[in-house]
Amino acid sequence: MSEQVNLLELTKVTKQFQSGEQKLEILKDANLTIFPAETIAITGPSGSGKSTLLGLMAGLDRVSTGSISFEGQSMQDWDEDQLAQWRRKHVGFVFQDFRLIPSFTALENVALPLEIMSVPAKEANRKAREILQRLGLGERTHHFPHQLSGGEQQRVAIGRAYVHEPDIIFADEPTGNLDPNTSSSILDALLSLHQNLRTTLVMVTHDHDIAQQMSRQVSIKDGQCRIANKGMLSSEGGQG
Ligand SMILES: Nc1ncnc2c1ncn2[C@@H]1O[C@H](COP(=O)(O)OP(=O)(O)O)[C@@H](O)[C@H]1O
Ligand SMILES: [Mg+2]
Repeated sequence: MSEQVNLLELTKVTKQFQSGEQKLEILKDANLTIFPAETIAITGPSGSGKSTLLGLMAGLDRVSTGSISFEGQSMQDWDEDQLAQWRRKHVGFVFQDFRLIPSFTALENVALPLEIMSVPAKEANRKAREILQRLGLGERTHHFPHQLSGGEQQRVAIGRAYVHEPDIIFADEPTGNLDPNTSSSILDALLSLHQNLRTTLVMVTHDHDIAQQMSRQVSIKDGQCRIANKGMLSSEGGQG
């Protein structure tokens, strides 16, 4: 019997922010396990801590208390350089507002993560071109972001997130700025790359229909992660 290694494991994660004199406790003893190659939706009301949770899991921010481990290694033990290195290699991001570099072409935007990893330019461009083609943007490689529609810009951003074949993609409301038709094409793009590359996909979404297409749904309530399965709500963690 081979034991499955968890990709990410959050144990009693608490995150507080100081707001003037007040301490805001956004996450409180939250537990969550993320498995390799799964798709998971994070839902919850505005301000419930979805982006905060994503930032912690992606190593962009630090927990106040508790721990997060990646493949069994505690991220708290890493310094900023180690965290940044881990992010570059293992993580991809997709944001609601695309965040492409305006002065870079689609190809240059997508090739950037590879160049940061010191992949030679020729190889980086080849991979970037290939993924843009898969995303239906083969004719748009030399376009700048302002010459692309919202949906096209988001597909470029998806190419950039996947190009270095990370273990995990974090998408924070990736369809939040897009109309329903475009949203469904963005979801298709994310899911098709997920299926091809077996990358774990963690997606924050307000859209119930989109959440239903992920293999698991987690909602944040009272600072904790609740697993929603087949209409049943239960709190993860606690008793074994
Ligand atoms: N850096 C910060 N400093 C202070 N408060 C913050 C900070 N980041 C987030 N918050 C607060 O934490 C709460 C949760 O934010 P967020 O995770 O962005 O929620 P969501 O993504 O679910 O809408 C909000 O009330 C927000 O104002
Ligand atoms: Mg948010």
